[in-house]
Amino acid sequence: MRFTIAIDGPAAAGKGTISKGVAAHFGFAHLDTGLLYRAVGRRTLLGEQPKTAALALLPEDLNRDDLRTAEVAQAASRVAVVPEVRAALLDFQRAFARRAGGAVLDGRDIGTVICPNAEAKLFVTASAEVRAERRYLELTGNGSQVTRDQVLADVKERDARDMERSEAPLKPALDAVTIDTSSLSITDALRLAIEQIQLKISVAG
Ligand code: CDP
Repeated sequence: MRFTIAIDGPAAAGKGTISKGVAAHFGFAHLDTGLLYRAVGRRTLLGEQPKTAALALLPEDLNRDDLRTAEVAQAASRVAVVPEVRAALLDFQRAFARRAGGAVLDGRDIGTVICPNAEAKLFVTASAEVRAERRYLELTGNGSQVTRDQVLADVKERDARDMERSEAPLKPALDAVTIDTSSLSITDALRLAIEQIQLKISVAG
């Protein structure tokens, strides 16, 4: 069966956790598209031009364990405004979305630009303060030396850049269901997401 689930939303809203949980529940493949932009961003920190880096991206670039830093996240959001970078990553994402057996893609523009015909679309969000606190715990848990204020400023700066860019700006698709995870546990957020998607699968099947 071909069934695409698009999950978009701002930084650290819980998209990753929900997407992995949804993929495991339905037995679908999962692509964290943020990793593509992070991998391109990381290459630019080593001196490559954004477009060259996007065209040269290799599967092993996505498996690195140094893509989750705040520095790479900022570099990712800077390369993400470059139209040639987005174009270079488009075909891979669309092919992944239509693979047999179902696919979950999470990012910023999946429901709006990459897969406008996705069978199910979620927009996962939370207040900037809640998102920054979650990211702060994640980063310090990985040994990063950051302060709460730095993480909040980073999240707000990336949100602004992601929402204000002209190419594929972050916004909910008109037909997306919004889930605000500000006061939800992971279990409750995941349950809500699965319920919404199950409704769409029932209609499609
Ligand atoms: O994990 P977090 O939500 O902080 O970020 P991410 O999903 O790994 O994405 C990192 C950056 O890549 C974002 O701030 C966006 O600028 C960019 N991105 C994008 O433009 N389009 C996507 N589909 C996914 C990520």
